[in-house]
Formats: sequence, C-alpha cells, structure tokens
Amino acid sequence: MSSSFEILKRCASGRIGKLTTPHGVVETPTVMPVINPNIRLVSPSKMKDMGAEILITNSYIIYRSKKLADHALTRGLHSLLEYDGPIMTDSGSFQLSVYGEVEVTNEQIIDFQHKIGSDIAVPLDIPTPPDVSRDRAEEELEITTERLKNARNHLSGSTLLAGPIQGSTYRDLRTEAAKKVSEIGFDIYPIGAVVPLMESYRYADLVDVIVSSKMGLNPSSPVHLFGAGHPMMFSLAVAMGCDLLDSAAYALYAKDERYITPHGTFHLSGLKYLPCSCPVCQSYTPDEIRNSDDPVTLLAEHNLYTTFEEIRRVKQAVYDGNLLELVEMRCRSHPRLLEALERIYSYSDWLEIYDPISKSTFFYCGPESAKRPEVIRFSKRMERLNIDGSAIIRPAGSNIKNTSDFDHMLEFKPPFGAYPVELGEVYPFNAESPSVHGPESLGVALENTIRLIKLNPDAEFTFMKPDHMEHPILEKLSSIANIVNFSQ
Ligand code: GUN
Ligand code: ZN
Repeated sequence: MSSSFEILKRCASGRIGKLTTPHGVVETPTVMPVINPNIRLVSPSKMKDMGAEILITNSYIIYRSKKLADHALTRGLHSLLEYDGPIMTDSGSFQLSVYGEVEVTNEQIIDFQHKIGSDIAVPLDIPTPPDVSRDRAEEELEITTERLKNARNHLSGSTLLAGPIQGSTYRDLRTEAAKKVSEIGFDIYPIGAVVPLMESYRYADLVDVIVSSKMGLNPSSPVHLFGAGHPMMFSLAVAMGCDLLDSAAYALYAKDERYITPHGTFHLSGLKYLPCSCPVCQSYTPDEIRNSDDPVTLLAEHNLYTTFEEIRRVKQAVYDGNLLELVEMRCRSHPRLLEALERIYSYSDWLEIYDPISKSTFFYCGPESAKRPEVIRFSKRMERLNIDGSAIIRPAGSNIKNTSDFDHMLEFKPPFGAYPVELGEVYPFNAESPSVHGPESLGVALENTIRLIKLNPDAEFTFMKPDHMEHPILEKLSSIANIVNFSQ
C-alpha cells in the first residue's frame, strides 16, 4: 500500500502534513467533527465553512437503521450526510466499549463501510480500557490484531483503512501493538481507548500511551487520536505527533450547556461575558443564548468555531517552530495538564530526535522549559566542543571587558549552560529568558557547565559569577573552576 501522507513541516514531534483520500486532500493536523447521522446540530456545509476538512461518523449507527442504511447503500454516505469532502467512518467499536457487545461482525462492518463509500474505514477493534489486567489486555489485543489482519485482507478498492492501536495502559503492549499494526500496513494509525483517560483528566497517562504507541510506528505514518476533542489539549496531542483528532465534544458539551474555550470549559449559566469573537459570540450575550429558541445549536456552533480556531493556532505554531511554547501555555490551564507537561518532557530525548535543529527563538516560559528537547540536545552535543588552554565563562548579555587574556570565551545562559560565545546568536542559544533565573533553570545550566568542564580536563576554566547568583550546585562548580565574583 503506497503512502498517502506527506509531511511538510515539523516542530517537536508535531507536523503539518497532507493526507490524500478518495474525496480530496486534507491538511493535518485537523479535527474531524463527529456527526451523529440521526441528529443534525450544525450542517456539514457550515462545518466546512468554519474550517472542517474531514468529518467522522459512525457506520454502525447507519448499519443498524434500515432507513439510513438504505439511503447510504443506494445513494452513498456522502449523499446521506450531504457532504462531498472526505468522511471517515468508525466501526461500532465505541458502542462495543460502552455496551459490551454489537450486532455485527468485523467483516460485515468493513464490507458495509466500503459499500457506502467511506473514505477511511475502521475495523471492529476492541477498545480495552485503562488499568485492566495484563492478561485481559493481551487477549483482547490478540483478537484486535486478528481482526485488523482480516480487514486488511478483506478490503479492496480505494477506501483507506485505519489500524487502531490498543494495549490498555501497558506501555510495552502499546509499542508492540503499534509495531504489529505497522507490519500489517494501514493508511492511518488511530490510538484507541483513550477516552476514559481524557474523561478522568489523566493527561499524564495519556502522554505515556501516545508516546509508547508512536515509538512502535514509522514516524512518517499519520496518527489519529480517537476521541480527542477538547481544544485545551490539541497542542499537546499534536506536539506528540497526532495528526488527526476528532470532536464529539462540541455537541456533547453543547447539550450540557457548556461553552468551550482553549483554556477550559464554562457552564453557560455562569457566564456573564463571552470571551470569544466568533459570529455567535458577536451576535449574542450569554443571556440571549440562554433565552434563544435553540441554545444547544448556538453553543455547538461556538464550540466548533473555537475548535477550528485552536487547530489553526496549533498549525501556525508548528509552522513558526514555537509549538512547545503553546503547549506550555495551554498546560497551565489545569493542574492535570501541568502533570502532562512534566510527563511530555520526561520524553525529551525522544522529542529531540524529530525536533528541527533550528526554529524561531526559544522562549523560556517557566521551570518546565529547562527540560525541553533543545536543552537535552545541547547536553548531547556538548561532547563535540573541544576546549584547551584557558577559558572564561561570562554571563550572556554582560559586557565584561578584559577577557582577552583567555584562549576561549564562553557565555553562560540558563537553562543551557556554557557555550562558545560565537554561538550566542544561533538557535537555541539566542533564547529569550528572564534575567533572574529560577533554581530549576540555573541548576540545569550549572550541571551542564560542570559536564563541559569535565569533558575538557586539560583546559582551565574561570566562571564569572554575578554577586546575586546563588545555587547549591555552585559549590560543586567551585571545585573544578575558578569562580570570580562581580557585581553587575
Ligand atoms: N472511539 C473512541 N475510542 C475508540 C477506539 O478505541 N476504537 C474505535 N474503533 N473507535 C473509538
Ligand atoms: Zn464564540
């Protein structure tokens, strides 16, 4: 199967790509609004105007209804939804996870998706929930793998096929599942059964599941995160390499009278002001929405506008090379997202592999920034720096003179450490960082400086220390370098 996915731009593990489907090309990352074929809150053509490039619907709901199935089988899925762009169909696996059973076999539902003209079909995988026993996770994964193989052998024609990755919360099973699914060969790789993690705000565990799945996949494969619909976590998901997201949230939240923002969700009853300029929020006050004929549709429309606005913001951040700055900002919206930020940087070694060497200016946004992939990269590459003779390390931005007696001049900038002054204008050393350094950032920088000194045992280092700089690691530094105090 030839690849229908092309990557145009990268940042962290995120990318902008082009996915070719039978009904046209989709630019990723993108969010697929979930369409319930029985309920039309917002028309697909309006969704397209808002920014939707591809929809997702549930083929099992269509299959079960004689009326819908007749229409789809005779006039096609695109006629049923009144949409001529790409449509992905799910298989009923979600119903399987909620109700424990479905009245269809894998082969029947694959066949049905093909017959109604789906652009991307999904086999009947088993969404194994988080925290189940290892035996159950392994057994269900085996059944899922068999079904994926059958689907692959069964499906012909132009319909793309998705191969979901399961494995519950076992990281090694996720990686193994991803490798197996890749061997079978699919057009899209969804990461499955993560809805329960998101519903209970277990974003750090979600990071583990995404990264361990990605580790078993070819990095150039398109990845879908099943059920990721809140704009608050789009940047996080994209930074880890998810290309397709889907949102039922816009409608589910609207039914509960909940108003989505990129920072979190508000109940309409508590809103006095609307922090958004979409056409709905420009035309209505919160009271007017509440008293209108159809508050649910108005909220669904606002929720979709917000959804597409955030995905465009994420794409621009990939384009500009500052996606991690956006992730750090968004992860400050909720303490459980802050845990996810910590977790994502525990994988900085992995993020570093795909992150471009040069991007726009590195912005230090808080203590977590000290663990960014760029900092790890500098520490990996430090071994390439050969320093002999005498070397002085001065604070970046200082204009200390009288350094001509030294063979080498280095600059010290947290969170990186010491680097040759010639690199000061080069990414990431041209970073914007606060003039007062927090203990995390300074600690990483001092440790890196100690490492650099130890890597160059024949050189003699002098470290210019501003009077106000204090850190326990300075004492360790003083045993291998001359420390000279000065007042700035
Ligand atoms: N929708 C949400 N989660 C899943 C999943 O794991 N598999 C499928 N097929 N659909 C889903
Ligand atoms: Zn709005």
